[in-house]
Amino acid sequence: MLLTLSEIARDPAVLTRRLDPGGGAQILFRPLVPADAEGLAHFLEGLSPASRRFSTFDGYGTEEARGLCDAIARHDKLRLVLEDVRSSRIVGLLELALALTPADLGRYREAGIFLDELTDCRFGPTLADDHQGRGLGTLAFPLVVEAVRRLGRTRVILWGGVLADNARAIRFYEKNGFRRFGSFAGADGSPSLDMMADLRELPDPAAAPR
Ligand SMILES: CC(C)(COP(=O)(O)OP(=O)(O)OC[C@H]1O[C@@H](n2cnc3c(N)ncnc32)[C@H](O)[C@@H]1OP(=O)(O)O)[C@@H](O)C(=O)NCCC(=O)NCCS
Repeated sequence: MLLTLSEIARDPAVLTRRLDPGGGAQILFRPLVPADAEGLAHFLEGLSPASRRFSTFDGYGTEEARGLCDAIARHDKLRLVLEDVRSSRIVGLLELALALTPADLGRYREAGIFLDELTDCRFGPTLADDHQGRGLGTLAFPLVVEAVRRLGRTRVILWGGVLADNARAIRFYEKNGFRRFGSFAGADGSPSLDMMADLRELPDPAAAPR
């Protein structure tokens, strides 16, 4: 059944799932809620300079965290967090944007792809430094796919592309079904790549025989 951002904000449980990353840990995948402002500020403050360069949030502290929490269901964004169950610490922020930018539309058009706000959305993931490169992003990605499908979208492009020197992220995207669609100079002129996943080409767990 399709969901709207308001419905998710009213009942975050509709997209809340438990993940088992092994080693006795448990991770909760759930929508960001207003009460997350403080935990989200800690998450942003803890990001290393390298992660900040790859993620490009507008800020890395309380003000940004409050802004992201205030934006819940007010604009076009769905933000999902990964919470370590034992410590209640936010260890990941997975962002979906339902609106596309003129720059995205123009770059993809040049590559012969016509993006459509009715079917396409943008995705940007950031994990805490101590949770990167351990398979957590890949473990959580099917849940992102489920959220995208329930928002009625079928294609996912990268939010601002990916820096060409972000080898781990590129590998993460490729192994999760994204394909490269061209290169461009990012906001600070750094070489960046556009990548897109078409969910119709990915397995749908909901369609699997029971
Ligand atoms: C990008 C990100 C979300 C990926 O999540 P993750 O949990 O770290 O990814 P995974 O561990 O599931 O997969 C990473 C893959 O890259 C590989 N990898 C790790 N470091 C690598 C490197 N330096 N070069 C190439 N591949 C690398 C891993 O081995 C793994 O591939 P494999 O399973 O085939 O071995 C996470 O690393 C992150 O938050 N990075 C910082 C912020 C960021 O770059 N966001 C993306 C902005 S576009």
